[in-house]
Amino acid sequence: MCLYCKDKDGGLVGDYKNGKYLKIGLLGLGTVGSGVAQLLAANEDHIAQRAGVNIKVKQALVRDINRVRPMDCVVPLTTRAEDILDDPETQVIVEVMGGQEPAFTYIMEALKRGKHVVTANKDLLANYGKELFAAAKEAGVDIYFEASVGGGIPIIRPLKDSLAGNRIEKVYGIVNGTTNYILSQMDQGITYEAALQQAKENGFAEADPSADVLGLDAARKIAILASIAFGARVRAADVTCVGIKDLEPLDLAYARELGYKVKLLALAQEIDGAVDVRVRPALLPHHHPLAAVDGVLNAIMVQGDAVGEVMFSGQGAGRMPTASAVVGDIIEVAHNISSGVKGRNGCTCFAAKPFCPPHKVRSSYFVRLEVQDKPGVMAKVAKAFGDAGVSLWSVIQKRQTERGAEIVIITHPTQGQNFDQALSALQSFPETFAIHQPMIVEGDEAYVAGHH
Ligand SMILES: NC(=O)c1ccc[n+]([C@@H]2O[C@H](COP(=O)([O-])OP(=O)(O)OC[C@H]3O[C@@H](n4cnc5c(N)ncnc54)[C@H](OP(=O)(O)O)[C@@H]3O)[C@@H](O)[C@H]2O)c1
Repeated sequence: MCLYCKDKDGGLVGDYKNGKYLKIGLLGLGTVGSGVAQLLAANEDHIAQRAGVNIKVKQALVRDINRVRPMDCVVPLTTRAEDILDDPETQVIVEVMGGQEPAFTYIMEALKRGKHVVTANKDLLANYGKELFAAAKEAGVDIYFEASVGGGIPIIRPLKDSLAGNRIEKVYGIVNGTTNYILSQMDQGITYEAALQQAKENGFAEADPSADVLGLDAARKIAILASIAFGARVRAADVTCVGIKDLEPLDLAYARELGYKVKLLALAQEIDGAVDVRVRPALLPHHHPLAAVDGVLNAIMVQGDAVGEVMFSGQGAGRMPTASAVVGDIIEVAHNISSGVKGRNGCTCFAAKPFCPPHKVRSSYFVRLEVQDKPGVMAKVAKAFGDAGVSLWSVIQKRQTERGAEIVIITHPTQGQNFDQALSALQSFPETFAIHQPMIVEGDEAYVAGHH
């Protein structure tokens, strides 16, 4: 179907002026789906001008047709996926239902029928990206997925297009609003449990927050970003992952005293041709741009060999910010259809690259210990690190606890295996009462120095 007419000079005249429509089908009309319908309706003329065609939601698939929907999204509903997938008029399928199944099957069916797909589903992209892109290529259609990482923040297309001339050295950032909110609250001195409760009450955490607090949501997002940045397939299962649930307000307080802010960092870098992808609680110096990103906000830094460091920040979730990203993708698809371009947004995983074994990756570490308060213990602790080949950057004895003394240590950059060896030795000492959740230290001179 031609969406554009050409004027006498061959210029495009949008069919939106002629009352023609690009019809889309929504799979899901929940938070994001209803936001998409609302945005397409509210900015109809503006979007038609940008897309060159009117865009109309023909139908939306839902589970429960009787559920009360927001007043601002009046869309015909169906509970039968085939009503949308088999509809010859529907050219674009927008999958905003979430989860792996039946979303995966529906997308594959849509692709097979030659429909373009826009999705916000990080779960699918991070686990089945290869299969989805292969099916899209086979069918000669496109899949766009800007909303799958960073909600409203444009990051997928900048990485794929605007920064394509760079060799990307590192992508890292705060990609989970729930944990960033919890950490921001804990920074005010409240416990993890109380901060999580506040997040739930404010609608920033789901009833089951495990995917967020264990770092699994961030793992899916950094897998997607790493795949694009390094041109090699990274799946969620390839990401080594530590969440925030074992952190205590004291860890954040001590970090602050030392000039750092604690963030859950999703990080991907290429080291000597191998890919290191991790999610870790991390200390960032106060002057680091990511240290200022608080609450539910997200931010992603990209380091390229030509551009240097660029930062993308904003609302990483929510109805309208996420709808903004989805609608941007729909407009891009409209452009592709109108200019007869197919398969423009193809797979960018051109190479197979090995992963860095986590124990070989170098980082600086922060760790808080509780040990017996008696002569010689400090020396024994220092020796455990020394014997493991880890040099210490800072050792501070903090308060007395009921059991003994609390020591906060920051190491110089060291391989994960050396740090683990030191912790195993400490664990075996009768004088050690507790080793709290270690964190990496990022964006510091010490860390950078260790990399060269
Ligand atoms: N929420 C955000 O801020 C955000 C941000 C970025 C990305 N995302 C992603 O966007 C996607 C959608 O998230 P959401 O928050 O909008 O989810 P949601 O509010 O739970 O909405 C899901 C929608 O899909 C429908 N649905 C689910 N399973 C279905 C099934 N088996 N058959 C038919 N309909 C089904 C639901 O129908 P009913 O309405 O009848 O229940 C609902 O309308 C997810 O992949 C999520 O990761 C969300």
